[in-house]
Amino acid sequence: MRKIVIAGNWKMYKTQSEALEFLQGFKSELEDTPDDREIVLCVPFTDLDILSKMLHGGRIQIGAQNVHWEAAGAYTGEISAPMLTELGVRFVVIGHSERRQYFGETDQTVNLRLKATQKAGLTPILCVGETKQQRDSGETESHIFSQLEKGLVDVDQQNLVIAYEPIWAIGTGDTCASIEANRVIGLIRNKLSNPHVTIQYGGSVKPDNIDEIMAQPEIDGALVGGASLDPQGFARIANYR
Ligand code: 13P
Repeated sequence: MRKIVIAGNWKMYKTQSEALEFLQGFKSELEDTPDDREIVLCVPFTDLDILSKMLHGGRIQIGAQNVHWEAAGAYTGEISAPMLTELGVRFVVIGHSERRQYFGETDQTVNLRLKATQKAGLTPILCVGETKQQRDSGETESHIFSQLEKGLVDVDQQNLVIAYEPIWAIGTGDTCASIEANRVIGLIRNKLSNPHVTIQYGGSVKPDNIDEIMAQPEIDGALVGGASLDPQGFARIANYR
């Protein structure tokens, strides 16, 4: 059975006090949320501890947005997977296009981070997706297949979530048509050794398009940026019908 995972990626938004304010509005909206889905908040490192304490034992899981591949060492400014595990973190976003674009993330470092995440007992959310230019020149499939092939070397597909995030759809309001997202996610699934991997769609997911996205047979959830910052809006997404 494929698990459904609805995850918010807050990116570099919300101080601790803003995170607590979000939670006040968000938790009460989840009282009738069906049990068939996991709800995850992937938040800045500085929000992890307090949110984890506030949410302990509840149905909202906590995720980080990056992790170093060594368990400890002289890596100034980095955070390791065991540090996250101890805080009660369950998921880690890895290889987000913003990290690939602005912070030198490569398929090789993605692969190292995926393995370190799994070794610490956490579930990675691997992000893949093409640029507008790659899409326009017909390279969508080959680019994504290459990201998967290089990223997934020696990675355990029993403990993995993948997010298909077309870069041109991120933060632009220009959502990928749900039928097209479904098609690409189906192609991704065909490349995996485990067909039960949860594969999300991400890119301008909003309260008004989530129902259509989740109605697609290959799509097992969403990775939501901007719309996850608003408690009522993200609750509507989590409560998709
Ligand atoms: P938006 O939902 O703001 O387009 O961001 C998507 C994303 O990057 C989630 O990781």
